[in-house]
Amino acid sequence: MKLRIFTLLCISLIAAPFATTSFAADPHKDITNLTSDKCGKCHEEIYDQWKGSMHAQSTALKDPIHGTFYSAVVGDPKAEGVKTGKGKYPVCLQCHAPAAAKAGSTKLDAKPAYNEGVNCISCHTLTKFKGTKKPGGGLQLGMQAYEYSKSALQGPMGTVKDRDHLKKYGQDVASNAGLMRTSDLCMGCHDQRNNGNEISLCQTGSEVDMAGGSTTCQTCHMPTTDDGITNHAMMGGHMAKMVARGLVLTIKASKAGDKVKAVVKLQNLLPHAFPTGAPFRNFYVMIDAFDKDGKKLWSNTKSHPMKDDKKAMFMYTLGDENHKPTSPPKATQVLGDTRLKPNETRELLYEIASAGVVSIKATAYYDLLLNPIKKKFGDKLPADVKQPKVIARADVTL
Ligand code: HEC
Ligand code: HEC
Ligand code: HEC
Ligand code: HEC
Ligand code: HEC
Repeated sequence: MKLRIFTLLCISLIAAPFATTSFAADPHKDITNLTSDKCGKCHEEIYDQWKGSMHAQSTALKDPIHGTFYSAVVGDPKAEGVKTGKGKYPVCLQCHAPAAAKAGSTKLDAKPAYNEGVNCISCHTLTKFKGTKKPGGGLQLGMQAYEYSKSALQGPMGTVKDRDHLKKYGQDVASNAGLMRTSDLCMGCHDQRNNGNEISLCQTGSEVDMAGGSTTCQTCHMPTTDDGITNHAMMGGHMAKMVARGLVLTIKASKAGDKVKAVVKLQNLLPHAFPTGAPFRNFYVMIDAFDKDGKKLWSNTKSHPMKDDKKAMFMYTLGDENHKPTSPPKATQVLGDTRLKPNETRELLYEIASAGVVSIKATAYYDLLLNPIKKKFGDKLPADVKQPKVIARADVTL
């Protein structure tokens, strides 16, 4: 574990009588807006992992995809007093900028903590998950779904004797395994979220059967590293290698007369949908048949499966009153959901003219955004997030 305790201890011992550090011992000190670099002074490795995560990029000023939608749907992330069309505080900030939401501010550059997104304090001061359903009906999301402390850090094990050095520099850590070790910790922000028309958008928790609870979100998303710490990099859709681990792709083929019958099998290994999350996440499979010289004789699509092979397209389709596909904020109904359900296995069948065919290849691509959204916001988005990524390959020789 890379803790800089020793150095810090020495510096503090020398400096303590002369300087008041920003991390002074006081159990009642309000640490709501404490920035993560303060924790990172000792928890160096965790800080670095977090810094590279989408949790640290979740605000409209940092995440170009969220920023583009936020500006289009809500308004200027640097302005104070921004209200939604219905005159309310923008709910987005309850999950994407928790420190700003706690203060009721919409000016994300007003304090460094506001623009840190889901930072150390956002998670490590949560004391209780209340659920995302309001007692009187409707949803309570993000920070509204939790009770949280202004001063007491929460951890999976809590203070033990050799850990009370925290008392010297800052807050003690309370034991809260019931929250920190379970999926409840994630659910306020990851359970579900509706647009203004009650249509389900970013969702994950609502896809998972929580009964049993034997596998938690942390099991996969916060694995233990080889030096015994909890990885806070929180890999997901922005890391193709992580996405790849959720899917098994295989292909079988057999000749029957002048046809080749190919069976492409897709197995979702996850307790949530594949892909999960934001409504525009999608994946698709391209299948090609080749002759002995490697020349392509057949493909399942001429351009993109979304256009001419819908069964190889795995997506969530939102629509308007006229049953026309539309963007998440405008949707009034769900037109279709062809993503793989939790733990689902699906087979795609193809009949290909067999003349000359000696091999068939299947390649699965994951795309953070659907093509119509790329078209609409394309110039505002960096090239990398628009690029589909290969997440699985399989081939068969006849
Ligand atoms: C002066 C150094 C120092 C600073 C600053 C510091 N910590 Fe720690 N913290 C430690 C040490 C040392 C431990 C014990 C390590 C261990 O054995 O897990 C610890 C333990 C923890 C634990 C685990 C407690 C448990 O339940 O097992 C959490 C959570 C934690 N710190 C969060 C934070 C957060 C969040 C901040 C910033 C607000 C922070 N720490 C700032 C040194 C520090
Ligand atoms: C998205 C929520 C979340 C954020 C953000 C977060 N943590 Fe954690 N942290 C957790 C969870 C959950 C655990 C416990 C995992 C377990 O034990 O199952 C944990 C565990 C820890 C521990 C205990 C030691 C260990 O390795 O398990 C420390 C220390 C810690 N976090 C520090 C930090 C620091 C420092 C930051 C900011 C740089 C931070 N955390 C940001 C959720 C979070
Ligand atoms: C305070 C709200 C909040 C909490 C609590 C929270 N998250 Fe997140 N999480 C977010 C937001 C917001 C994003 C989206 C950031 C973005 O893409 O702009 C996100 C993104 C992610 C991603 C996607 C990364 C990617 O590559 O797109 C994963 C995985 C994730 N969180 C897992 C977890 C897990 C596991 C927990 C519980 C241990 C958790 N989160 C707790 C708000 C939260
Ligand atoms: C068995 C391992 C596993 C478990 C358990 C698991 N996930 Fe995932 N999760 C993955 C993999 C692999 C991906 C990448 C594929 C995908 O996007 O579906 C992923 C993707 C995600 C994403 C990324 C979505 C995006 O838009 O980028 C989020 C958010 C997420 N998971 C949250 C959760 C939450 C919350 C839980 C707990 C309820 C959970 N996961 C449980 C493995 C797991
Ligand atoms: C209940 C919590 C919550 C609320 C409220 C919320 N989001 Fe999110 N949002 C998430 C999470 C979690 C993710 C990332 C994981 C996923 O895809 O589910 C995300 C991802 C996104 C993404 C994709 C970011 C990327 O990097 O691809 C966009 C865009 C987005 N949200 C826009 C918004 C807007 C705009 C609002 C307000 C109108 C909003 N969200 C409200 C939780 C929330």
